[in-house]
Amino acid sequence: MIDPCQPVPSLGDSLDAAAALLRGAGRIAVLSGAGISAESGIPTFRDALTGLWARFDAGDLATPEAFERDPALVWGWYEWRRMKVLQSQPNPGHLALARLAARGPQVTVITQNVDDLHERAGSREVHHLHGSLHAPRCFECGRSHGFGPQIPDEPEGGRRLAPPACDHCGGPLRPGVVWFGEMLPEDAWRAATEAIAHCEVMITIGTSGLVFPAAGLPGLAAGRGKPVIQINPTATEHDDCARVALRARAGEALPALLERLG
Ligand code: OAD
Repeated sequence: MIDPCQPVPSLGDSLDAAAALLRGAGRIAVLSGAGISAESGIPTFRDALTGLWARFDAGDLATPEAFERDPALVWGWYEWRRMKVLQSQPNPGHLALARLAARGPQVTVITQNVDDLHERAGSREVHHLHGSLHAPRCFECGRSHGFGPQIPDEPEGGRRLAPPACDHCGGPLRPGVVWFGEMLPEDAWRAATEAIAHCEVMITIGTSGLVFPAAGLPGLAAGRGKPVIQINPTATEHDDCARVALRARAGEALPALLERLG
């Protein structure tokens, strides 16, 4: 819906347009991606220089086959990522989103992120489409496990680390994230599609829109006539269905949006 033949509106005009869509909306659905956590120091996936998939091979680390081949390599890498999350804090983007809900509307956050920064910022309704770094389970029997409160000390990129054994069946624990080739958690997906069906406005924040089925949600909203606001410093696959594009960092755009809402 963004017309490439029209001049790009200023950030101020786009913020005004986004605020007008949000003012009075009782139900807001939010799809967040790695970009919203970038300002907390968590690497994204597809940045050309610092993105995880530019530095590591997804096929070696993010598939069930990779874990079967080399569980210590995979477990160590995810423990490094968990450490980075434990050492980081929610940024002004996460905090502004929680403040938006505190103003009254129902804000359903559908996130592709496996960190817990939305929750730590105070967002109440958060659905993790790609699982969580903080909820390991047994690779064999599926039983859920927890982590102690300690922050693991991992070198950059992680080190080989044998996964702990399940206290029920002795199988290796695996990270609680969704790997390539796996189904999304049913509950989270259902919550996401229901949020889209019932929302009045959708906001997408910090996602490249390349990984399906999550990437299909803004199109689903737009197809039902719901206005989509996109927050991303660069153009994305979601430009086609965005009514308003805020070409800015989440930590800049979301607080500015809140300010306009008064
Ligand atoms: P990507 O790394 O693909 O995209 C991150 C997006 O965030 C890019 O479009 C950036 O322009 C944008 N961005 C960067 N900094 C930002 C900032 N400060 N504010 C707002 N936006 C910013 O990450 P995702 O779209 O989340 O899946 O990736 C989707 C999935 O691909 C991930 O959940 C992961 C990955 O493979 C699995 O691991 C299953």
